[in-house]
Amino acid sequence: MASSNPSRKLEGRVAIVTGSSSGMGRAIALALAKEGAHVVCADLRPEAAAKGFEADKDVPTHEVIRNNGGRSLFQKCDMGKTDEIDTLFATAIQEFGKLNIVVNNAGLWLPLRDFVLETEEMWDAMMGINGKGTATSMRLAIRQFLKQEIDESGSRGRIVNISSSAGITAIRREATYAASKAAVSMLTRNVALDHAKDSINVNAVCPGVVRTAMSSTNFQDPAIIAEMKKGTPWPRLGEPSDIAKVVVFLCSDDAQWITGQNIAVDGGFTVGIPL
Ligand SMILES: NC(=O)c1ccc[n+]([C@@H]2O[C@H](COP(=O)([O-])OP(=O)(O)OC[C@H]3O[C@@H](n4cnc5c(N)ncnc54)[C@H](O)[C@@H]3O)[C@@H](O)[C@H]2O)c1
Repeated sequence: MASSNPSRKLEGRVAIVTGSSSGMGRAIALALAKEGAHVVCADLRPEAAAKGFEADKDVPTHEVIRNNGGRSLFQKCDMGKTDEIDTLFATAIQEFGKLNIVVNNAGLWLPLRDFVLETEEMWDAMMGINGKGTATSMRLAIRQFLKQEIDESGSRGRIVNISSSAGITAIRREATYAASKAAVSMLTRNVALDHAKDSINVNAVCPGVVRTAMSSTNFQDPAIIAEMKKGTPWPRLGEPSDIAKVVVFLCSDDAQWITGQNIAVDGGFTVGIPL
């Protein structure tokens, strides 16, 4: 059982992580818990996606945290459904009495195709979950933060959104997904601007190609792997832990004066064409 440990960066802080059952959300939830945060894990279901690469994916994220002595619970939440997002926040606050960190990681990416072949349903689904779901969650987070005092680190609360390199640079056959992630990135900047006066940090991480269930079909095709590697200057593609480490930093006291930033964690994907 892990007891209170002041050397951990997030001891006793309360965090919500959406899309926490697999991939980056899982890595983020586990990394926050390792630093002492109590984590409310939110996803469509507690089980990790079968196509994921996690070695321990048969154990749900909140159970891994508890098995390691941390405090955690699972709350079912579809980020496309406002009533479920309301319930998620109500549950977290009822259980822990406060909220310090919200990581909006859940996202929908639909298979690649040219824009002309995309449908209105795809637009509604990706904009609904990635755009509106993130905005709704941010609003509920800030409403709660504003009820709380500024904490010992000088912040009233921290939001980290998981956007995408697709929200920064155009990538073929990802138009609507990219537009939904650009919405996340720009929301990050605007909301940070509105609420800096309240000492609320709002930042985003924009991952490049990361090996998760979402991208697993790409990782099965040697031609696509070669294409992804060609677009990534760094000699390897990304792992969920690459993203989780930066999220922990943004949630830590060391990042107090950082707000409104979209930090690309992408092996240089958005820097330029690596010829
Ligand atoms: N994998 C990549 O290469 C990559 C690159 C850039 C950005 N991203 C973004 O990173 C985030 C995490 O993706 P990942 O690659 O870890 O994927 P993943 O498939 O491994 O995990 C995504 C998790 O989100 C959950 N989820 C999906 N829809 C949801 C919804 N409506 N409500 C709640 N939970 C939902 C899934 O059940 C799953 O557990 C997403 O926002 C994605 O768009 C991924």
